[in-house]
Amino acid sequence: MINIAVMGHGVVGSGVVELFYKNRESIQKKVGKPMDIKYILDLRDFPDFPYHEKFVKDFSVIADDPDIEVVAEVMGGLEPAFTFVKTCLEKGKSVVTSNKELVAAKGAQLLEVARQNGVNFFFEASVGGGIPIIRPLHSCLAANEIDEIAGILNGTTNFILTKMIREQSSFADALALAQKLGYAERIPTADVEGHDACRKICILASLAFGKHVYPEQVHTEGISNVTLEDTEYAENWGGVVKLIGRAKRLEDGRLSAMVSPAFLSHESQLSSIDDVFNGILVRGDATGDVVFYGKGAGKLPTASAVVADIVDAIKATGTSKSLHWVDDGENHVEDWRQTESRFYLRLSGLDREKALQMVRKEFGDVEELHRPKQPGDEIAFVTSLVREQAAEEKLAALRGAGLALLGKIRVLDY
Ligand code: HSE
Repeated sequence: MINIAVMGHGVVGSGVVELFYKNRESIQKKVGKPMDIKYILDLRDFPDFPYHEKFVKDFSVIADDPDIEVVAEVMGGLEPAFTFVKTCLEKGKSVVTSNKELVAAKGAQLLEVARQNGVNFFFEASVGGGIPIIRPLHSCLAANEIDEIAGILNGTTNFILTKMIREQSSFADALALAQKLGYAERIPTADVEGHDACRKICILASLAFGKHVYPEQVHTEGISNVTLEDTEYAENWGGVVKLIGRAKRLEDGRLSAMVSPAFLSHESQLSSIDDVFNGILVRGDATGDVVFYGKGAGKLPTASAVVADIVDAIKATGTSKSLHWVDDGENHVEDWRQTESRFYLRLSGLDREKALQMVRKEFGDVEELHRPKQPGDEIAFVTSLVREQAAEEKLAALRGAGLALLGKIRVLDY
């Protein structure tokens, strides 16, 4: 009998238990051995839950039980998750996790602890919910150098933007619905301000480029400043607004990485990914673009990836060598102010002709955009490529001349 422990019985943890027992027979066939969940760790009581006798409150029950081979950490947060995961690995138990905060902050360290102890540390569920992306990246695409990754990595913000655009829903109503459906983080600012997407692009970048990329190294902007007017201008331009996490290998070996809202053309494969769905584009030097698409959040999609990792952890012998990256003590991410981008800008305060004259003086030729009910003193346009720092200086000059900045969103070409 293979014994499993599940640490955490929130949205994902309860989904793991539900899915395991629902599909236990076929899961056991894939493993080739009988399996059971022996413990569920949670501080709360669930007296009406069918498996209530499996609940424990004390982590040491799991850590000290030599019968437990695989532990699923689905508690979230850095502590005590980090201590618990590290302890399990040191005690020779493989660990699978959905905890992107943990992997983004401690991935290199935990992968090394797993290697030293001859066990596995898997985290398919940490990025893209139910979408297979971690395993394809280090396994199916192993023959490629990965040049670039870009994706819609947060289901909650994609759900909010979709509701705002399609149903003119208010930001607050859309967020409340995402929370009710179990998509949002415990503290939803992690979704809204881009931190969740940032953790996910850090995990993907670390895996693709082999060096740990930390969230604090990646410039991150969320969607709280995106307005319905911005989405109208995006439509006039021929696209949509999406929150995009991206990482790119530069010629000098460094990386550029950022999370921000972006205009994407309707022709982009990522532009039609709506609601809670995530889409991740991986650009390999042999494959060209490969796009992964599916439900990026929610109880059962995320549980699907956790249970699949449990299956693989049981089937695996030793530590997976391709699932690996290191922290070499250096920051490999280029200063974001040095990157170049095109920008959508929305300004107001002067009449159109005068404003455009000043804009052209700073940004050269621009592509002017329009929206219904556009006030006479409002202009919107898309620039050509300009360095981030230079764009800031040009905007400061326009502000000095009496123009107020109402919207600024990067324009991306994926
Ligand atoms: N809050 C996350 C999201 C959950 O909305 O994508 C999945 O990581």
